[in-house]
Amino acid sequence: MSLYRSLRPLLFMLPPETAHKLTLRGLAALGHLGAPTADDHVLAQQLFGLSFDNPFGMAAGFDKDGEAMRGVHRIGFGFTEIGTLTPLPQPGNPQPRVFRIPQQEALINRLGFNNRGQIDALHRLQILRARPNAVARPIGVNIGANKEAEDRIADYEKGAARFADLADYLTVNISSPNTPGLRDLQGGEAVVEIMQRVRAAAPATPILVKIAPDLPFDQACEIGALAVAHQIDGLIISNTTLQREAVTGLRNGDEAGGLSGQPVYTLATDMLSEVYAATEGKLKLIGVGGVADAAQAYGKIRAGASLVQLYTGLVYNGPGLVKQMKAGLVELLRADGFATISDAIGADHK
Ligand code: FNR
Repeated sequence: MSLYRSLRPLLFMLPPETAHKLTLRGLAALGHLGAPTADDHVLAQQLFGLSFDNPFGMAAGFDKDGEAMRGVHRIGFGFTEIGTLTPLPQPGNPQPRVFRIPQQEALINRLGFNNRGQIDALHRLQILRARPNAVARPIGVNIGANKEAEDRIADYEKGAARFADLADYLTVNISSPNTPGLRDLQGGEAVVEIMQRVRAAAPATPILVKIAPDLPFDQACEIGALAVAHQIDGLIISNTTLQREAVTGLRNGDEAGGLSGQPVYTLATDMLSEVYAATEGKLKLIGVGGVADAAQAYGKIRAGASLVQLYTGLVYNGPGLVKQMKAGLVELLRADGFATISDAIGADHK
C-alpha cells in the first residue's frame, strides 16, 4: 500500500477544504526542491508551440490562485492550469461546499469561483517567470467572470488581456455549474462573441475553451466548429456534470454542485470522441474527467485527446499517481507499437 493510501483515512477525517489547503501548502513547499525528474521521451510532444514532457496536467480548480505551480510540476505533471481566476477577488459560496463520495471516487463541489482575483495571481506568475531558472513546464491560466459582473464577456476579455503575455495558454471557462447562468455562454451568439473578443485581447496566446459534459453532443461539436472558425486552438472536455445517476442514494450524492471523478469518465470521453471525429483533428483537445489510472488516460488519448488533465483522481490516489500513470502509459503505448504519444492520439478513429 502506498504511503498516501495509509495517510488517506487521516486526511479524510478533515473537511475537504481543510485537507485541500494542507495539500496545497505541502506542494508549495515541495516546489522549492528543484526541477522534476526527466520523463521518457515517448511521452513528449510539441503543441501550440509549447513543449510538453508528458501529457498529464493538473486540472483547473486545484491551484486556483497559483500558489503551488512549481510543486505541481515537481510531482511529475507535464503542465498545470491555475484558476479559475476572476477579475476581482470573490469569496465563493458559503461552506461546506465540497463533498466526498468515496464509494464512487467522486466529489461534488459548489465552490463558486472562490479566488483572490487575477491581480494577485498575476504578480505570483510574474515573480516565477522572472527567476533566473524559471520553470520550463507550461502553465495555463483559466479565466472566468465575477458572479456580480454586469458584462460577463467583458470579464473574459479583461482576463485574456491581463494574462496574454504571462500564460502559456488561456482557458475560457464557460462551463462551471456554480455561477448561475454562466453555462448559457456556451450557446447562441454568446460563444462566438466570447471567442472573438478573447482572441482579439490575446492575439498571440494559445486559447482553449472548456465545456460542460451536459451539453448535447451536437452542440459540443458545433462549439468545436466555431472554435476552428474563430482561431481558437482547442477545447477542454470536460468540466463537472450536473448528472447524479451514479451517486443517487449515496451519502452526499444529492448535494448541489458539479460532480467529478469516476462518474464523469465515460460521458466526458464519449463527448471528446464525438468532437474529435467532427473536427477531424483540426482542434487540439484536452481530455479531463474521471482519470485515475494509465488505461483511462490512454482511453482519452485514443479517443482524441492530445493532453489529459485530472483532479479528483489525485484526491483518492495521492501524488504518486502521476509517476504511476506515466510509467503505465509508456507500457501501453509500446505494447500497441506506438513510437510516440502523438501517433496514438485519435487512434480509435483510424
Ligand atoms: C473543479 N473544476 C474546475 N474547473 C474549472 O475550469 N475551474 C475551476 O475553478 C474548477 N474548480 C474545481 C474545484 C473542485 C473542487 C473540483 C473537484 C473540480 C473542474 C475540474 O477542472 C475538472 O474539469 C473536473 O473535476 C473533472 O475532472 P476530474 O476531477 O474528474 O479529474
